[in-house]
Parts: sequence; C-alpha cells; structure tokens
Amino acid sequence: MMASFNVTINSLNLQQVKEMLWQPQAKWREFKWAVSLLLLTVLLYVVVYHSASLVPNFPASVAPVVAEKQEINNIDSIESEDMINLEGILKEASMKDKKTVIMTLMNQAWAEPNSTFDVFLESFRIGNGTSKLLPHIVVMCLDDKAYSRCLDVLPRRCILLRTAGVDFSGENRYMVGDYVKMMWRRIKFLGSLLKLGYNFLFTDMDTIWLRDPFPRLVADVDFQAACNLFFNGNFSDRQHNEVNGGFKFVTANHRTIKLYKYWYKSRLRFPGKHDQDVLNYIRSDQYINKIGLDMRFIDTVDVGSFCQPNWDITKVSVLHGNCCIGQSNKVKDLRQFLEDWTIFFCNGNRERSFRQPMNCRRSVGWRPPRKHKRRG
Ligand SMILES: *[C@@H]1O[C@H](CO)[C@@H](O)[C@H](O)[C@H]1NC(C)=O
Ligand SMILES: *[C@@H]1O[C@H](CO)[C@@H](O)[C@H](O)[C@H]1NC(C)=O
Ligand SMILES: *[C@@H]1O[C@H](CO)[C@@H](O)[C@H](O)[C@H]1NC(C)=O
Repeated sequence: MMASFNVTINSLNLQQVKEMLWQPQAKWREFKWAVSLLLLTVLLYVVVYHSASLVPNFPASVAPVVAEKQEINNIDSIESEDMINLEGILKEASMKDKKTVIMTLMNQAWAEPNSTFDVFLESFRIGNGTSKLLPHIVVMCLDDKAYSRCLDVLPRRCILLRTAGVDFSGENRYMVGDYVKMMWRRIKFLGSLLKLGYNFLFTDMDTIWLRDPFPRLVADVDFQAACNLFFNGNFSDRQHNEVNGGFKFVTANHRTIKLYKYWYKSRLRFPGKHDQDVLNYIRSDQYINKIGLDMRFIDTVDVGSFCQPNWDITKVSVLHGNCCIGQSNKVKDLRQFLEDWTIFFCNGNRERSFRQPMNCRRSVGWRPPRKHKRRG
C-alpha cells in the first residue's frame, strides 16, 4: 500500500524477522547488519506501527481541494469528466495483447517537480526494457494539484479520485482518518477496474523500475503481490508471507472481483485499519479459500524494498523506497539507487552495487555498526 506515503511497515512479524536474521551461516558483516536491522525493526515497530494512525505525512501546506457539495453526498464520485474519459484512458493505456494497465497513486507533494513522480518516471526511462511500459501507466490523483501536474506530464493518463467525506475545503490539514479513507477509496476504485475487465499492476509511486517485472509474474494467477519484508521461499504460502500492497498484479476475473468486494467490506470489521493490514488479516479467511482465489507472492529478489539489508543489482526489477520516514529522505535515497543503477547499467561498471539508503536508514533510527577493529 501507499502506507502513509512514507512509511510502509505494517504487521511486522518479529519472529520472522529474527529467524531470517539469525541464519547460522551469516557472516560477521551480515551479522552486524542483522543486529542493526533487528533493532531498527523493533524501533520501527514501536515508533511507526503504533503511531500509524497519526501519520498522514502530508505537508501542512497542502492546498485545499474544494470538494463539490454534491460529491460529498456521492460516495463513489469520480470527476464527471474523468468518468466519461475513464474508459478511453484505460483503452489507450492498456497493453495491446491483454487488457492490462499499470496503476499508481499520487498526491500533491509527490507531484512536485523533482520529487517522487519524476524519480519514478525517470526509472522507467533508464531501466532495462522499462521505457516501453511508460504508455501503460495511469495515475490516480488525490488532489487537484497532483491532477494538474499529472496532466502536464502524462496527458490522458490521469484520473482524479475524490474521496467522499474527506474535507479539503477548509484550512485544515488532512484529518486523522482521512488518509485511511483515501486508501480505501483506491481499493474500491481498483475493484471497479476489475469489473470493467482490466487487469492491473498496482505500484506505489515511491518505487523505481529497473527491469520489466512482467516476465517475473506468473500467467493466470489471480493475485500476485510483493512481500512485506520477507519472502519465506514458498510462493503460495499465504500463512507465512505477508502482502505488501505497494506492488501487486491482479487479473480481472470473478474471483478477484469477489476478493476486492470482500476486502473492501472487511474494512468495517477492522475500523481505522489500512487496506494492507486488513488484507493481511483476511488473507487466510475461509471465504478466500472458498472462492478459490489463487494468491502468489513475489520473491524479494525481484521486487524488493529498502526494508531489506541488501539487493542483487543483477536481478532486481522493482525497488520500493519504504522503511523510510520523510519525503526528502526517500527521494534522495531513491535517486541514489538510480545513480548506482546508471553506473552499473548505462556506464557498464559491473562491479557496482547499490549503496545503502542512509537517509532512510537514519530516519528510522538506524545507526551504522562500529567498524570492527582488527588486531595485530
Ligand atoms: C533535482 O534534484 C537534484 C538532486 O537533489 C538536484 O541536483 C537538481 O538540481 C534538482 N533539479 C531541480 C530542477 O530542482
Ligand atoms: C537487459 O535486458 C536484456 C534483454 O532482456 C538482457 O539480455 C540483458 O542481460 C539485460 N541487462 C542487464 C544488466 O540486466
Ligand atoms: C507452500 O505453501 C502451501 C500453502 O501453505 C503448502 O500447501 C505447500 O505444501 C507449501 N510448499 C512447500 C514446498 O512447503
């Protein structure tokens, strides 16, 4: 999920963290990393998870979007103009062979020049075989500023999503709970794409695309998602892998339509919870088994994140800048990954690997381990 736009750590399973980090073959360097990461994780758990509801990390300067009165009454309003355009946008954006689109979500802060949106798009341009995916991106915009920047950059690929009951009309900042409402609005909207027969790959915008992920996905699977932190090695293990809602590929069929309906409805059972949390609560529900939904996880080697201790630059396809607090930290570190990628891929320096995202690491309280002094 777009997790508070900056922080994506939900439902950490500490036991899993420990198991992964305490592999006996871990070398000393990795061991240090492991200890640091464990501390980091615990800290994150305490700091982030428990304050998640307070987070909406939007700047105070967010310009008010004037919600039309009639829209407040209309739960699922999409801008009327967009509604007319929606089918046209999807038709144009979808891949020729199948009805597949790449969906992402943007707010004003991310839309600013040189911020997340630009870094995201730049990765498509410099990735290996990713520029061909650019025409398939459709941006769901959460406010007018984001919408207008989107139209400047990707005309005919922008949808303005308004959320009923989220009051942008005053001087108020986003209210606690508004953020959660917007995230649910997105789930509802994506569910409606399935009803229109479109498969979608939803990606958070704080990602960089270095290789085409589609060849890494398995055909005819209903729901494939990146892992939240860890991949336990079993692609179909719903019990022990957790979904990271920030990257998922969903095939349009009657099972996924039912999943989205059930998922959306389940928000009422878990008031105030984000969509990702709720999906993780319900992922093993009887109902999901009953509809025969085929759910599969994507290896963190292919779709990784800043939450991992390291990455394989020769394999990684998409990287998610989560485990990070603060928009500017995130953008700086995503840029650094693009720099390293450029040196590796464009300049052909095959020795190059990714440096650590230190701005993000520090933002979540991580300190580099002291240098191990050698004796003699
Ligand atoms: C964009 O950001 C980069 C890196 O932070 C900086 O070097 C560059 O000057 C910025 N460009 C603009 C137009 O702000
Ligand atoms: C880039 O993509 C091409 C074509 O798929 C592949 O042959 C090549 O190995 C890739 N390069 C890297 C560095 O991944
Ligand atoms: C993978 O997980 C599935 C679902 O939990 C289970 O049925 C299957 O036996 C597991 N496979 C392996 C090789 O452990």
